Amino acid sequence: MEKYVFTGGKPPPESFPVQELTESAERVLTLRGSELVFYPGQHAHAGYSNKGYLGLREVASSRFEHREGEPLPVENIALTAGSMQAIELIGRHFIEPGDTVITSELCYMGTLSFFRYMQANIVGIPIDYIDGMDMDALENTLKNLSHYNIKPKLIYVTDSHQNPTGAILSLERRKRLLELTEEYEIPIVEDDCYGDLDFEKGIIPPSMYKMGNSDNVIFVASFSKILGPGLRLGCFCAPDKYLDDILTHRWDAGTSTLSCMIVADYLKEHMWSHISSHVAIIKEKRDTLMDALEENLGGVIKCIMPRGGLFAWVTLPETIDLKKLEELSSKRGVVYSPGRILHWRQQDIKNLRLSYTHMSLDDIREGVALLSKCVKEAM
Ligand SMILES: Cc1ncc(COP(=O)(O)O)c(C=O)c1O
Repeated sequence: MEKYVFTGGKPPPESFPVQELTESAERVLTLRGSELVFYPGQHAHAGYSNKGYLGLREVASSRFEHREGEPLPVENIALTAGSMQAIELIGRHFIEPGDTVITSELCYMGTLSFFRYMQANIVGIPIDYIDGMDMDALENTLKNLSHYNIKPKLIYVTDSHQNPTGAILSLERRKRLLELTEEYEIPIVEDDCYGDLDFEKGIIPPSMYKMGNSDNVIFVASFSKILGPGLRLGCFCAPDKYLDDILTHRWDAGTSTLSCMIVADYLKEHMWSHISSHVAIIKEKRDTLMDALEENLGGVIKCIMPRGGLFAWVTLPETIDLKKLEELSSKRGVVYSPGRILHWRQQDIKNLRLSYTHMSLDDIREGVALLSKCVKEAM
């Protein structure tokens, strides 16, 4: 039986505001419940449109403003079923089978799988675990592709607390990425899924959406990681030239107005107090995880201290037998995400990703101790 499940980007259950959301649900249902007879796009005069419930779009805009000093334009924000649906709609707009798209070599599995499903030709750019995508490598790749008359349809980046590495794309690299994409006329999809999950203040450079004057950058955000993925709420903010065309790929009749109303009602008043206690809980777990890794595997593995987000990215020893490690771990009830599933070519790399934030402190310690035994036996 799986007992220590170090997989999936799940936030801590103890910080999910059950009581407060219950109160918000009661409030919005009492005041506006009868409006739920409409589809989200049917009721434009009262704050609904095919972009979704206005109240939550305003919350998404002010969330961005809190960090970036200026709001996202509410008219350019569309709500989605999690940020994965935003990635899907954007991808459907830009990608035809055989098109080239650029990601980092290590990337969120959902995006990679969707791009593969679209039969895109994914080109992975090396990434370093601190400062993110390597811009020299990107420049070389763009030059090479252009030599063969290939123009990538988009560049997908998670620039803050990257999944899986935890890298934060440095200011200098953000600037360079904007310059390169302008030169080669390629839109950037800036996936800010882990935005606001910062363990230290002031570590995140300005978003590329803001720096790039927003014309070529599509900003994607999620409510999954600050609240819970079960809500299925995310959004994207796209420049006018893309927005309506992206939305033509949507056939689900809109994002649940009920979910949006409840979450907007709660976050309007409590967003930052919630995020602050939520991040404090995650940080304590990060510290517990890092202590346990050091105690059990110090000198054996490498793991850069995550500065935010929900993951730790572990580099295993060269001598590790990956298959044996998976077998031993699974026998002992420990599951993790092998590096392979986060690699653009699904290569058997000697890394694994630990997601720990949904686990108790004791389970983190016990799980790491068991995993460590497996690592040592598989070396
Ligand atoms: C980088 C990244 N983007 C997007 C998503 C999708 O999340 P959701 O659809 O729940 O917002 C995830 C989920 O783990 C992720 O890691």
